[in-house]
Amino acid sequence: MTKKESDEKMKMKMKSETETKTDEGTDKGTEMPELDLSGAERTARIVELERESVVQTYTRQPVLLVKGAGARVWDASGKEYLDFVAGIAVNNVGHCHPSVVEAIARQAKDLIHTSNLYYTENQVFLAEELKTLTGMDRAFYCNSGAESVEAALKLARRATGRSEIVAAVHSFHGRTLGSLGATYKPMYREPFRPLNEAKFVPYDDPEALKAAVSKETSAVILEPVQGEGGVNVPKPDYLRAARQICDDCGALLILDEVQTGFGRTGRWFGKEHSGITPDAMTLAKGIAGGLPMGAMLAAETVTDVFQKGDHASTFGGGPLVCAAALASIGAIKEEKLVERSEQMGAYFRSRLNDEIDAKEVRGLGLMVGVELEASCPEIVNQARERGVLLNATSEHVLRMVPPLVVGKGEIDRVVKVLGEILEKP
Ligand SMILES: Cc1ncc(COP(=O)(O)O)c(C=O)c1O
Repeated sequence: MTKKESDEKMKMKMKSETETKTDEGTDKGTEMPELDLSGAERTARIVELERESVVQTYTRQPVLLVKGAGARVWDASGKEYLDFVAGIAVNNVGHCHPSVVEAIARQAKDLIHTSNLYYTENQVFLAEELKTLTGMDRAFYCNSGAESVEAALKLARRATGRSEIVAAVHSFHGRTLGSLGATYKPMYREPFRPLNEAKFVPYDDPEALKAAVSKETSAVILEPVQGEGGVNVPKPDYLRAARQICDDCGALLILDEVQTGFGRTGRWFGKEHSGITPDAMTLAKGIAGGLPMGAMLAAETVTDVFQKGDHASTFGGGPLVCAAALASIGAIKEEKLVERSEQMGAYFRSRLNDEIDAKEVRGLGLMVGVELEASCPEIVNQARERGVLLNATSEHVLRMVPPLVVGKGEIDRVVKVLGEILEKP
C-alpha cells in the first residue's frame, strides 16, 4: 500500500469514527483495525531518522501517531488507542475538536502573526474571558507553561524586590533556568547549577511552609494538585494556610495551574477547591485546544509594578492561538466539560477502586493517579500494546489525564485493560 492509499484509508476510518460520536464521548466498538505493514515501515523509518536529527532529550514510546479525534488517536498502521495521556493534560476538549479546528482555519485565513508591536482583537477578548473565569485582573501571554512560570517569578521579584522562592517537594514548574530552580527533582536541577533554587518544603504541610517563608521570600509557588509529582491532592486548608502565610510576610502566592486549569480537576481552576485568590496564576497546557500557549494572570495591584519593556514575548498572545483558546473555552462551556470532568473523574476513580488492587487511587476530576506495587513503566508498555496510552510519573504511580470528553465506555475499557494486565502473573 502506498502512503497516499494508507492516508486515504485512515481518512475513511476517521470519518466513520467521528460520525458515530455520541454523548458518551467517542465511545464505540473496540475491534482493532488490521495491521498495515506500510505503517510499521513508516514508524521504523521515523524512529531511525529521529535519532539522527532530533536532540535526544526525550524517552519516546515506539508509536508514530498520525490522527486524533475525541479521546482517541491512531498510529501510522491504523491501530487505535484510547488516549489517557491527552498530550500530557493538554487536549482537554479532545483531539481536533471541530470548533477549535474551525477557529484556527478561519483565523489562519485572516492573520496568523503580527508581534506585540500592534493591537490584535483576539488577545483582548481572551484576556476579558480569562479575567471572568479566574477573577484575576490582567493577563500576560507567552507560549508554554515554563514561560508562564518565568513571568510570574519575574513579577514577584519586581513586586517585592526579593529573590527567594519557596516551592514544594515533588513540585514541577518547568525546565527553563528560572522555572527549573522551583522544580523539585534534584536530577533535573543538578547538571544546570548555579540556579536560583527554591527552598523546598514538604507539600501539604502548612507548618513547614510557615517555617520556610520569611521577609526575604519573594514568592511561594504551589500546584493546586501536584501533577508530575504523582497526582498529589492537598487538604483544602493547605492553600488557605499558604495564602495567610504569604500575606503575613508580604510574599506573593503563585498558583501554578498549568496542569490543573481548564476543567481538569472538575472545576475551571484548581484554586476553586480551596476558595482562595492567588496573587498570580500560571496557565498553559489545556488553554488553547492543543496549540502551544501560556498565560500568567495576576492581580492589578501586582501587575502594575511591571513597566514597559520589563517582559515580552514575540509570539505571546498571537491571533491564531488566541482564536483557538477562545474556541476551546467556548467548547468547554457549551459541552459542560467542567461538570463532566467531575462526574467522569468520580466514576473513573470508583471503577478503579472496585476493579484494581491499588495501593491508592487519588485525584480530582479527570486528574487521576493510581499508586501500585507493580512497575508502572512496564504497565504503560503493556497497556499500549492493548490500545491504551497511559503515563507513569514514577516507578509506582500511573497518571491518567484523559480528554474531558471521555465516555464511560472508554473509561470501562481502560479499567478492564488495567485489570487484565495486573492479573497476569
Ligand atoms: C504544573 C506545571 N507547571 C509547569 C509546567 C511546564 O510546562 P511546559 O512543559 O509547557 O513548559 C508543567 C509541565 O508539565 C506543569 O505540569
